[in-house]
Amino acid sequence: MSQAPATAILLEDYAPTPYVTKETFLDFELQSEYTLVHSRLTIVRNEKSNSDSNTLILNGSELELLSVSIDGKVLTDSDYVLNSETLSINVDKDAFVLECTTRIYPDKNTALEGLYISGGMYCTQCEAEGFRRITYFQDRPDVLSVFTTRINADVEQYPVALSNGNLVSQTIENGRVIAEWHDPFPKPSYLFALVAGDLVCQEDAFITQSGRNIALKMYVEQENEHKCEHALESLKRSMKWDEEVYGREYDLDLFMIVAVDHFNMGAMENKGLNIFNSSCVLATPETATDEAFARIEGIVGHEYFHNWSGNRVTCRDWFQLSLKEGFTVFRDAEFSADMGSRAVKRLEDVSFLRQHQFPEDAGPMAHAVRPSSYMEISNFYTVTIYEKGSEVVRMLRTMLGEQLFRKGSDLYFDTFDGQAATTDDFVWAMEQVSGQDLTQFKRWHSQAGTPRLSISREFNESEKTLTISAKQHTPPSADHSPKEPFVIPVQLGLIDDQGRALQEITYDASYSSDNQVWLVTQEEQSITFSNLETMPVVSLLRDFSAPVLLMDDLSDQERVLLIGSDSNGFNRWEQCQIIYKKMILQGVTDSVDDALFSALESALKQLLVDKKVENAVKAELLKLPAEVELLQLSPKVDILAVAASRKRLMSRLAAALSATLTSLYQTLPVTEVYRFDSESVGIRKLKNELLELLILSDGDQYIERASAQFTQANNMTDQLAALRLLVKYGSEQVYQDALDRFLDQWESDAQVLEQWFRVQMVRTDDKALDRVSALLNHRLFEYQNPNKVRAVIGAFAMGNIEGFHAEDGSGYHFLGMQVETLDALNPQIAARLVGPLVKWQSYDDARGQKMKAVLTQLAGKELSKDLYEVVNKSLV
Ligand code: ARG
Ligand code: ZN
Repeated sequence: MSQAPATAILLEDYAPTPYVTKETFLDFELQSEYTLVHSRLTIVRNEKSNSDSNTLILNGSELELLSVSIDGKVLTDSDYVLNSETLSINVDKDAFVLECTTRIYPDKNTALEGLYISGGMYCTQCEAEGFRRITYFQDRPDVLSVFTTRINADVEQYPVALSNGNLVSQTIENGRVIAEWHDPFPKPSYLFALVAGDLVCQEDAFITQSGRNIALKMYVEQENEHKCEHALESLKRSMKWDEEVYGREYDLDLFMIVAVDHFNMGAMENKGLNIFNSSCVLATPETATDEAFARIEGIVGHEYFHNWSGNRVTCRDWFQLSLKEGFTVFRDAEFSADMGSRAVKRLEDVSFLRQHQFPEDAGPMAHAVRPSSYMEISNFYTVTIYEKGSEVVRMLRTMLGEQLFRKGSDLYFDTFDGQAATTDDFVWAMEQVSGQDLTQFKRWHSQAGTPRLSISREFNESEKTLTISAKQHTPPSADHSPKEPFVIPVQLGLIDDQGRALQEITYDASYSSDNQVWLVTQEEQSITFSNLETMPVVSLLRDFSAPVLLMDDLSDQERVLLIGSDSNGFNRWEQCQIIYKKMILQGVTDSVDDALFSALESALKQLLVDKKVENAVKAELLKLPAEVELLQLSPKVDILAVAASRKRLMSRLAAALSATLTSLYQTLPVTEVYRFDSESVGIRKLKNELLELLILSDGDQYIERASAQFTQANNMTDQLAALRLLVKYGSEQVYQDALDRFLDQWESDAQVLEQWFRVQMVRTDDKALDRVSALLNHRLFEYQNPNKVRAVIGAFAMGNIEGFHAEDGSGYHFLGMQVETLDALNPQIAARLVGPLVKWQSYDDARGQKMKAVLTQLAGKELSKDLYEVVNKSLV
């Protein structure tokens, strides 16, 4: 484990390297105890650098250097400087060939970075800085090189040997397979991949818009052969979508997907050879839920879309990470919206943003979408870089409109193809095509924090005008980023008291009547609409047009009116959420306003029987906001009191709506044959949401229903939904029995087994901690498998509020111990898992102090660089 250095890497220190590696030849000898990596690098002076330094710096970590030579001359240790992170060589040549041999130990690699073994197969994860654990290299994204890779392995154990690009040759000699791959597209080392194993292949094909035939190959372990269809279908849909929506065609003749069980993240976009966490790619209706199907479709799309937004145009340095991730998340979100229900996708993403990104942006790890400093880049694969980054791209599209945005993206891809670019380059392209000056807009890249946007209205009856005033304020952030006013596109509409849309008039240049966007750019700003007979209701921030915390002056009646009649589906749901939040907070301190409750009740009753409202939207309308969202409205509120109030409200709602819910439940069509389309998904989603509420209102009878559904279900969506309800609401006997039966049925299926671990965390009695501890000793639990760690420890800390936040601090203490154990195995996972403790300052003081004490204890230990950064920043 590396000793934690106190040094930060700074954006302002960026400089091109004096040398660049143009061609890379790699030869991997996979031996049973170790792997030998021979490299031959063609290195030349960098035209982009104005440094006259003769020092070539190669990154390398945890490598055994066996030999290094330049132009055939073997170097001795007086010819270079070697330390634990770099190999530096003074070279007085403008062009040379460097050869190097290193020895590495993939079977001992539990960090799952670089080359490692997962369930008997070799695989790699090189982003961000994993390649340096394979060989000495200029391991940075602005060095682009053409790779040729030879793999030499035992043919019995590893008959399939893959790398990026196209297969050049494959032979078998003396019981060893020798495969050579060549990738013609220059790429940074983080996109390198190698896979070797005993894998089966599912094949498919795609014909591009220009008529090229692309072979699609999905490699999995034998037992998963039947779980590939959905991913391959998703891949073909992604390829078609990127052609239609962005005009982007695939460039190699072959596209490969590999599923591995041990993986730190979801998936990786290695050129031509995407590697996936098996839980994010393998599915059948019997083993995967609708949610998993949707997630797989989104991730397959995401990785595929990276071929342009990430690979063909890559990042200059890791501060620009959101250039590829934010843009690609935006692309995959739009893809998912086009494939399924647009309204549901949007509100799910907004909930996710508020539950995860807003807290991050208000906490000690807050950073800008383009951070200006980091210690360990792995810690910056965050919801801010990804999800807020996507929101920033979405705002650009909102401001430019679809057509100009597409022109801008074309210009961006054409201009920077084959290069390493910056977020400024992306904005530059949008400026070029629109003529807009986006200088101020770029603050969304450089300033952290969630802006608070307060809106108030004034109606002037004699003038028949409505003036809307906005005030923005962004609290200081942990990263000390400056806070100048943001450009906030507020999409809005005016509605009369009957719910009809109004044709308003405004002469203000900050308002675009084409797309109904008001651009708020000042700290305080107002706009006047004229020709209004009566005071209209305003529907603000439609589709969540900016990632802000909105505080408006709408009355409860106005909100209820919007729930019933806003033409913007997102805002109907949003107003409902706002009322739920208000009532949950009322329930914490006092009692819920009965008039408000009844008003919402009747609005919901109407919506639930409205045939025009999608089933999936109905299900979402019945879901109460997550507890953490209340912390944003009422800082330091007691989280357990919030959870209790939320539960009471849910029961009260269930009781009040009981008759409507029952008849809805009885009349929902049955989905006999499993289909993954938005209609069937919506039916299952609503049915299972209703079942939970019916259990709350009518108890036993519906527990029986859940039991029956659990036994009879022909798909995992229904089976797992039923199991979840039995675990959550069943008697000790009922839930234990269901869990046993589920394990019996699914023990040998790794993806379902993960769900078995995870589902147990939803039971919120006072034995949660005992259960989680017992699971860690279960014969099927493995600390080396990040999916299982997340399913047990992660699900406990993030999903079981009552257990994790137990008054005695036992949940915090438990997490601290687990994080320490994991840090020795897998620093990336440890640094992620500590997340729930890191936000200690948002909780009430007593609780916060207990969380902090655990962090303080951790800080006294010898930690990995990953964990060190997170823990120490949380204590500043
Ligand atoms: N680029 C990958 C993706 O978003 C994620 C890589 C994560 N790497 C890491 N070190 N956290 O698809
Ligand atoms: Zn990505």
